[in-house]
Amino acid sequence: MSRFYATTPIYYVNAQPHLGHAYTTIVGDALTRWHRLIGDEVKYLTGTDEHGLKIQQAADAAGLDPQSFADSIAPKFADAWQRLDIANDDFIRTTEPRHKSAVSELLQRCYDAGDIELGVYRGKYCVACEEYYTEEELTGGTDCPIHKRPVDDYEEENYFFKLSRFEDRLLQHYADHPGSIVPEFRANEAYGLIRSGLRDFSVSRTSLTWGIPLPWDPSHVAYVWFDALTNYLAAVGFGDGTDSYKDWWPVDYHLIGKDIIRHHCVYWPAMLMSAGVDLPKGWAVGGWLLVDGEKMAKSTGNVVNPLDLIDVVGVDGFRYYVLADTPYGQDGDFSYEGLVGRYNSDLANNLGNLAARVATVVAKKCDGIGPAPSPDSPLAEAAATTLDGVTAAWDHVAPHRALDITWQLIRTVNAYLETNEPWKMESGSAVDAVMGDALEALRLLAILVSPAMPATAQEIWSRIGMSGEISAVRLPEAGTWGQYPGGQPVIKGDSLFPRIT
Ligand code: MSP
Repeated sequence: MSRFYATTPIYYVNAQPHLGHAYTTIVGDALTRWHRLIGDEVKYLTGTDEHGLKIQQAADAAGLDPQSFADSIAPKFADAWQRLDIANDDFIRTTEPRHKSAVSELLQRCYDAGDIELGVYRGKYCVACEEYYTEEELTGGTDCPIHKRPVDDYEEENYFFKLSRFEDRLLQHYADHPGSIVPEFRANEAYGLIRSGLRDFSVSRTSLTWGIPLPWDPSHVAYVWFDALTNYLAAVGFGDGTDSYKDWWPVDYHLIGKDIIRHHCVYWPAMLMSAGVDLPKGWAVGGWLLVDGEKMAKSTGNVVNPLDLIDVVGVDGFRYYVLADTPYGQDGDFSYEGLVGRYNSDLANNLGNLAARVATVVAKKCDGIGPAPSPDSPLAEAAATTLDGVTAAWDHVAPHRALDITWQLIRTVNAYLETNEPWKMESGSAVDAVMGDALEALRLLAILVSPAMPATAQEIWSRIGMSGEISAVRLPEAGTWGQYPGGQPVIKGDSLFPRIT
């Protein structure tokens, strides 16, 4: 059995969970559900990023000490993921002891390798990004290019990670591992960052106490990004004094947003090289979900709470929308109209309608008992092609493509019913043949939509009379045509996706 380890960014606890956080987390959830479906042993990690100036300031504003403040927000992320049916295997908080020991271990290894040195930093710092900028990078020479507001002047003694030494090694690594960053055009952004020259980056602060002390100089605390990135190793046991982390490391995919390419595809592999730890196997880079053309963020004030949206379209309706609507990697435009439009067209009119009409015809023409499919059904080939296409799409972390291909099969089955018009036939073998095929197609469709819409998949599965949990089903075994047993009661039930008007 192979193992599959995937991570989301850990989210800053200065904001409530919003659609932007939900986006990456749902993509990772669907991807890891796919891997469970194909039989992999999976670890899916998410969590919260709790140290640094930004959190300290948010805690001050809330009148709490930073730990109490983080304790009040972190559960909101865990709860939101539960409500969105996210099946994460672990949730890491950077204030946990396991994380602190991993950060100390990684820092010490890089220090011992001679890649961390003391220096003085003078520069322009954006607290919201927790990042220094050069004058050229600032908008209008004064403002953070992401947050569009003035940055602060900082000067302090910092330890620096000697990133500039790693340019050639990083380029060589990516040349040796083509396709490790998907999609391709995001990989090119990462290579561009490396080729444009690497500046050493600061890994510590003396002006701040809310962080993890450097093991060799506790008057400094670790800089947020060095701290945060290490969560991916901490969660699999790095720093516990053994090599157990190698059971899961190297990670298969870090799912990230395009805003944190530099940290994940440049800083992080260099840190790992320095520490003698294997590099990630993959990075999957998503775009931003935009609202009126702006990144959704607390600082922009255009935050959409995902939990409000599930009241409108249901958990699976929401998950489907974020997975299907935006080609992964590109920016997506979020709108309420878009959400409802997709729900009505793809879920109410296509999938929901197919499930309902199959159950209705089986009730009327087959006494409510599902007939068996025919081995040489005209739908069998379409189903096999769909499975191949969906598999290739998930292999490339392209959920929108996996769903698009699946929906082509739904349309094919709907067209098959419209051509044959079983509702106009007399009961008997001709109707049974058509409905057996349609039920078999629904069985396969339930499996194929299960990574994106787990509850809907289970509902279809049970209604057509399949026993057990669909989450126990495995591909490719369950993917071959003809396994719908026939002879089971088919339940009509309420509409899966009532139209929203
Ligand atoms: N804490 C850091 C990440 C450390 S990972 C070692 C951080 N946190 S964050 O909460 O600000 O954002 C995390 C990620 O959420 C972003 O990088 C991005 O992947 C995702 N998104 C936040 N807003 C988003 C959108 N509006 N759209 C899509 N994804 C967005 O950065």
